[in-house]
Order: sequence, then structure tokens, then C-alpha cells
Amino acid sequence: MRLADCNNVQDFRRLARKKLPGPVFHYIDGAADDELTKGRNTSAFDDVDLVPNVLAGVSEIDMSVTVLGRKLAMPLFLSPTALQRLFHWQGERAVGRAASAFGTYFGVSSLSTVSLEDIGATVNGPKMLQLYVHKDEGLNTSLVERAKASGFDCLTLTVDTIVGGNRERCLNTGFTSPPRFTASSVWEYATKPGWALNYLFRERFSLPNLEGYLAEGSSKSMSVADYFTQMLDQTLDWKRADAIRKNWGDKPFCLKGVMSVEDARRAIDIGATAIMVSNHGGRQLDGSRAPFDQIAELADAVGGRIEIICDGGIQRGTHVLKALAAGATACSGGRLYLYALAAAGEPGVRRILTRLQAEIERDMKLMGVTRVDQLDRSKLRYR
Ligand code: LAC
Repeated sequence: MRLADCNNVQDFRRLARKKLPGPVFHYIDGAADDELTKGRNTSAFDDVDLVPNVLAGVSEIDMSVTVLGRKLAMPLFLSPTALQRLFHWQGERAVGRAASAFGTYFGVSSLSTVSLEDIGATVNGPKMLQLYVHKDEGLNTSLVERAKASGFDCLTLTVDTIVGGNRERCLNTGFTSPPRFTASSVWEYATKPGWALNYLFRERFSLPNLEGYLAEGSSKSMSVADYFTQMLDQTLDWKRADAIRKNWGDKPFCLKGVMSVEDARRAIDIGATAIMVSNHGGRQLDGSRAPFDQIAELADAVGGRIEIICDGGIQRGTHVLKALAAGATACSGGRLYLYALAAAGEPGVRRILTRLQAEIERDMKLMGVTRVDQLDRSKLRYR
């Protein structure tokens, strides 16, 4: 299987599985408990059918959307995800370049493996910093100040990781960051020599945004769930979120992980530009509702007063169209480009974006719409 054989997210997932050591693949692919929410995030789209109009004159399609202060060339952007140089040596540099080339937002994790300054200097498209609020207030201040100084367009506060999710695949494989090579796991790494050589001989793994703030630097091996539980501040509340937004200033501010109407109203009260409706890819609270299932309810309650981003489960152009028709302003996803990054680096990310962009365009034409604001609830039928 080669890059040219990868036409969709699942194809890239299969290739990523071949390229990555088991523990690294299962870190990306896995989710919490029984992984019900992860599955539902995608299958939720199957419960809704599209009702097309025809003979609409669709030779010119405009799929742009304006969200989080920027006009994006496509209604889908790249959610922040951590540790990208563990998946492919090009890491965030590849993902950032690809996002910029497609005129869409690049989400950068607090746990990125390339510094915010490096990204600020090399990625010229729209970019957001995803903030984890740590117990160490100095680290929080540093992350926000560095994002400001590096020209980031948006601050996205993650609110669904107050403790680590129960990721049993990671417990089974012993996955930590950085990877720990134990007697039982070393075989997994040794059998993927392409990955292992890159990991050992390219730029050393680090989490440069955290350097100087962690007692043992980012070289201490830890599971991501333990990192959340031990390092993040469980006192985080609305008052604090409000203070973070004020300190960030007038640029767009987003809350990632809002699911309820009640919380969406509070997000409006603190002046957030957008909510990312998300359950963290099913990696935190298993049994949490799928983002797509919540969009209509949220759009009815707060639509027009705050931007609504459908984050999670998206694998197809039609998923994007369904979310927009239900009331989302835009869509975003993590695994959809991480499999491609792991499979083939920057060309992989570019290829999956090319495929998804082509699907969105084709599907808009087949739906008889030329702009995304023509997609509304009249185009959907819930089974
Ligand atoms: C995760 C974080 C790091 O593993 O986003 O879910």
C-alpha cells in the first residue's frame, strides 16, 4: 500500500498502522473505555440523510467560510493535536505548511513538538494555540505570551481534559511520551525500522513550549492521561476562563470541548468567539454525545450569537455538509489528518486535504448548492 492508494481517511489509517510502532498507532487511534463515543462521532452522520436539489447551475462553487476571525478557503480545519513529531519526523511543520497551502486553520497544541516561535515564523496561514491550563501559572502565562508574540490568530482553551481519560489501549501498550523502550515494547519499535531510524537520528524529541517549566523537562516519560491528571489545573472554572480571554485580548477566543447549551450560553457571556463542539475524539468521557448530534440543538439555542464548530468524527465531505446544514459554522478534525501525517508526512496531509476538498466541492454540486450558507436544515432528514 502506497500514498497513491490512499483515497480516504480509512485508507490512510491502514497505511499509518503499517508504518507506526503499535503503541504510537494505538495512542492516535485509541479512545476512552469502550470507545463507544469515538465510534458514534462518525456513525452519527449515518442517521441523517441529505436531500439534494437539482438543476441549480453549479459550475462555480464557493466553499469558503469565515470563522474565528479568518476567511478559510474550505469549511474544514485541522484541530490541534499533540506530539506530532512522534508520528512523523516532519511533525507540525508538515501539518502547518499543508494547512496554509489549503487556506485553512492550523491548530497547534500546547504539547507541540515544534516551538510556537518556529511555527509563527514558518506557517503563514491562520493558526490557533490550543491552551491546556497547567497548575504552573508561569507556564500558562508563558504559552499565551509566546502565542501573542508569534502572531497566532486565535486562542483555543481546551475544557474537557480536567482529568485524563481512561485510555486502555495506552495502558495495554505502555505508551508514554517520550516513548519508553521496555523489554516488552522494544520489539514493537524495532519492527518499524523506518520510524525507529527517524526517531533516533532526526531532531531529538522534545516539547519546546514546556521547557523550563517541567521539573525534568519533557524528557520524563509519562502517559498523556497521567499528564492531564497530574499537571493540569482541576480548579479551572468559568471565572478563570473569562480572565484568560481578557488577558488574550481582542483576537478570537474559542472554547474547545463545549457540549451543552448551558455551557454555550456561558461561553457567550465571557465573550468567546466560538465553541468547538467536541468530546476530544472520544478520548475523555466515553458515552458523551457525538458533536454532530449536538449541533442542531446548539444552533437553535445560540446560533448567530457564537460560532459553532463541529469537531470530531469527520471522515467525508458529506459529513461536513451535514454538520453545516445542521447549523455548524465550520468543521474540524484531528485523526483525519494524523493518519495521513503518520502514513506519508506532508504529502500525506496534502493528499487527504485534496481528497476532502474535492469531496466537499463534488458533494455541494450534487446537493445543488453553490455557497455553504445555502445548506440548512431543509436539506436534512433525520431517520
Ligand atoms: C490527547 C491530547 C494530548 O492525547 O490531546 O488526547
